[in-house]
Amino acid sequence: MSRSPRQKTALILGITGQDGSYLAELLLAKGYAVHGVVRRASMFNRSRIEHLRSGTGRNRLTLHYSDLTDHTSLRRIVQKVAPREVYHLAGQSHVGLSFEIPEVTSEENATATLALLEILRDLPYAVKFYHAASSELFGAPRTAPQNETTPVNPVNPYGCAKAFAAQMCRVYRQAYGLFAVNGIAYNHESPRRGENFVTRKISLGAARIRAGQQKEIVLGNLDAKRDWGWAPEFVEAMWLALQADEPRDYILATGRATSVRDFAAAAFAELGMKLKFSGKGRAETARRTDTGAVVLRVDPKFYRPVESTTLLGDARLARKALGWKAATIGPAVARQMARADFAALKA
Ligand code: GDD
Repeated sequence: MSRSPRQKTALILGITGQDGSYLAELLLAKGYAVHGVVRRASMFNRSRIEHLRSGTGRNRLTLHYSDLTDHTSLRRIVQKVAPREVYHLAGQSHVGLSFEIPEVTSEENATATLALLEILRDLPYAVKFYHAASSELFGAPRTAPQNETTPVNPVNPYGCAKAFAAQMCRVYRQAYGLFAVNGIAYNHESPRRGENFVTRKISLGAARIRAGQQKEIVLGNLDAKRDWGWAPEFVEAMWLALQADEPRDYILATGRATSVRDFAAAAFAELGMKLKFSGKGRAETARRTDTGAVVLRVDPKFYRPVESTTLLGDARLARKALGWKAATIGPAVARQMARADFAALKA
């Protein structure tokens, strides 16, 4: 085992995900050696980092096989790599799905985070740990906007697992002096977002409808509001949080909430399709004003058993301590995603 960390060496769990891929890009550009943990699967799922494997910096990118449930191999990788910074962005990230698979969600998001904390606690040198916590900790908060001192009140299995993991980070920080940071991130999106999240479902759907490849998109609760930001900006905050003198928790958010309906309207409008909504709640639809065709429909099957409410973040601490501020917000996120998806379809 290495007795000291390798400077400018980072380990990313979740490197093949949206955030992991942007963070890997950022760290490689900063001259880091980047190590990523990937799951062994019969099909490769590396499309988001494929371009990094052939770009400049490719010699500084190394992938290791492991799994969040295989704590022994994770320990071995950490000991071999001797990273100065560890970014834990991996796990089951779909809130709706967490109602279907609560035990996997808990194993990957709660128990695995604890296992990582144990691995890092045993290292013979000081390491810095970023944990991707979530606004879902707050679930149904009594106050809006939320800040770092707002009480947790998760309302789904995903939020419960994240709340456990975030609190464990605080315990290890206090008990063992570990440099552990919770980034309490609100929704952050990009064209690399998975297609089962609402923003990408909308942007890709709008692009395909515009290209004549799809007739309509079917969604759940259009009244739900989220504080939507831009993922490449959020990974900057992750890195900044580990460069600070002290480990702390930070709210990472834009401070503005947009409804699913308004997000969809912005995405469609960007591609030249104005929408007219009619009906209410579970029976709502939207037509294109130019053709009259129904292009958006609500299906109750996409409603969640319990919906998180009023998730709106106050990121003033991140601004003050890290100099970080979200610039791309809500409807602007929708417009950029729709443009990118349409351009990719045309290409
Ligand atoms: N996924 C999905 N699909 N959501 C829908 C749909 C649909 O067809 N229709 C409406 N929604 C509503 C959901 O009910 C929710 O209120 C909102 O759209 C956002 O859903 P998601 O995009 O699935 O994201 P999320 O807010 O549940 O969770 C994301 O953000 C969290 C941080 O706030 C994920 O990235 C989490 O991993 C992350 O922690």
